[in-house]
Parts: sequence; C-alpha cells; structure tokens
Amino acid sequence: MMNKKFSDELLSKIVALKKQRNAIILAHNYQLPEVQDAADFHGDSLELSRAAAKTDAEVIVFCGVHFMAETASILCPQKKVIMPDLSAGCPMANMMSAAQLRDLKKAHPNAAVVGYVNTSAEVKAELDVCCTSTNAVAVVNALKDKEEIIFVPDKYLADYVSKVTGRQLISWNGFCPTHIKILPEDIKRERRFHPFAKVMVHPECLPQVVSIADAVLSTSRMCKFAKESDVKEFIVGTEVGLIYRLKQDNPKKEFYPASERAVCPNMKRTTQEKILWALEELKEEVRVSDDIRARSKKAIDRMLEIV
Ligand code: 13P
Ligand code: SF4
Repeated sequence: MMNKKFSDELLSKIVALKKQRNAIILAHNYQLPEVQDAADFHGDSLELSRAAAKTDAEVIVFCGVHFMAETASILCPQKKVIMPDLSAGCPMANMMSAAQLRDLKKAHPNAAVVGYVNTSAEVKAELDVCCTSTNAVAVVNALKDKEEIIFVPDKYLADYVSKVTGRQLISWNGFCPTHIKILPEDIKRERRFHPFAKVMVHPECLPQVVSIADAVLSTSRMCKFAKESDVKEFIVGTEVGLIYRLKQDNPKKEFYPASERAVCPNMKRTTQEKILWALEELKEEVRVSDDIRARSKKAIDRMLEIV
C-alpha cells in the first residue's frame, strides 16, 4: 500500500498535468485501487471503447492491457492513446495470430468469423464481427442466417456462448490463464462459508465453474447485478481487482473473491507513478497501421451496430 501523503501528492500532480495535456484517464475494472482512484472513467472492455470514442480529450491514458488501448486507437486515430506500461499484454490475446486465423478461415470458407475483443488488431482485421463478454451472446444470435460460425480465441467463452445460443461454434484453443485458476472446489468452499451469497462468475471461467454459478456476467454486468440485487453478499468469480470497484459502489454489501489466486499480473503493472510519467512524457503511444485500422474498425463497428 502506498503512503497516503505520497499518494495524495501524486494524485494532485496527475490531476494538474491531465488538465494541461487535455487528457482523460480510462481504467479497466481490474486495475489497482490507486489507478481506479486516479481514473476519470472505469469500466469493462466495451464501456472503455465507448468512452474512448466519445471523449473530446486529445490524449487518452489507457490503464488496462494492450488490446484495449489498441481498440481505443482504432476507434479514435486522431487522438493520442498512451499506455503507462506498454508491456501490459493479455496472454489470451497472444494465443492466436492473424496467420493462424487465416488458416482456420481457409478450413471453413463459409463460416462467419466472430472474435473476442481480447485479440490483436491484426486478428481483428480478419474478423467479420468483434464481441465482448457483455455482448457475445447477442452477436452470435445476430448471425442466425449463417450456417457456420468461427468464434475465437477463448474456448471457454465459446463453450458458454454455444450453450446459451444453442449454436455449434468452431473454436480455438485459447483461454485466460487467470480465470482458469478459479476451480469448482473454490466455489463450493465459498458457498459453505457464505450460504446466503449469490455466485457471479465471468464467462472466461472453466465450464465446470460456469455451470454451478448463479449468474454468468461480464465485469460491468457484475457491477450492475450487485447494485440492483436485494442480496447483500456475493461470491465473485473473476479477477480480484473487481472487488475494489464493487465495494466502492456498494459499501453496505459484502464481496468475497471465489479465489485469491485469480490475479492478472498484466492488469497490475500500471501504477499512479507510471500514469504521471506517461502524462509527463506523453508515452508510450499505441498506434495501428492505416490498413489494419480500417479493417479491424469494420469488425468493431459491426459489433456496436448489433448492440
Ligand atoms: P470484461 O470486458 O468483462 O471487463 O473482461 C475483460 C477481460 O479481460 C476479462 O478477463
Ligand atoms: Fe487477458 Fe485474462 Fe488478464 Fe483479462 S484477466 S486481460 S483475459 S489474461
């Protein structure tokens, strides 16, 4: 934990410089508390893309992982998108390359191609439509006229979407190394400790975990569910960073992590000190080449039209 006086000083420097640079700070729901406290807006992948597209700021300081900043840059090429730590990647996004997707498309030439937002811009450029965990079911349901659907790269999200929509999906062997750490035993143990709690889990979790949850939700939907529910206790099956946000929004409710091991190290790379540095140096910039940007934007726009 950072010393309070030091943190307050850092925060006031960030606020002053942010104004001078005409910058906005966006933070994913899994970011460290000190980063969430410094952010103008926090949300899930979809909400952050929308916030990036809407802002009048000239500079977007993106506190999340690389594919998220890339998505912001695809949506607003005229703005400068910077990451306080460029090495914050998503291992799941790195599990599929554009060449691998092209091969899969060759094997299924008539299939519609849906890709999770957790992909590189090069992979997005190969998609017909993008999706996030909030809208994956709606996107697949919108492809009723398609006989075959490729859904990449997360095999567990594909499994969940396939069960909900009743569609067979051609999937890829990708997964989130953080969410698979949550085991069915963890859920059962936490239910014994907190018998009145509702269990909400992210669709990136293992199917054995998803099948015993009360609700399967993206991070923003978990926030909404917790706020709107009459229930006072929740077992949270996703990256532990969300608990801070849930507690901030619902001080009278209790939230228990399904597993303390569900930590995404990449989401924890960004700190207030790095945000200040990024604003001072206006670095590291995330940019996408014009060709890739134009093609990947079509897949993102199609998603935004559907939802
Ligand atoms: P959300 O879009 O639900 O926030 O998920 C992003 C992510 O990376 C989950 O691991
Ligand atoms: Fe990627 Fe998983 Fe981290 Fe989300 S939690 S950014 S899917 S590794």
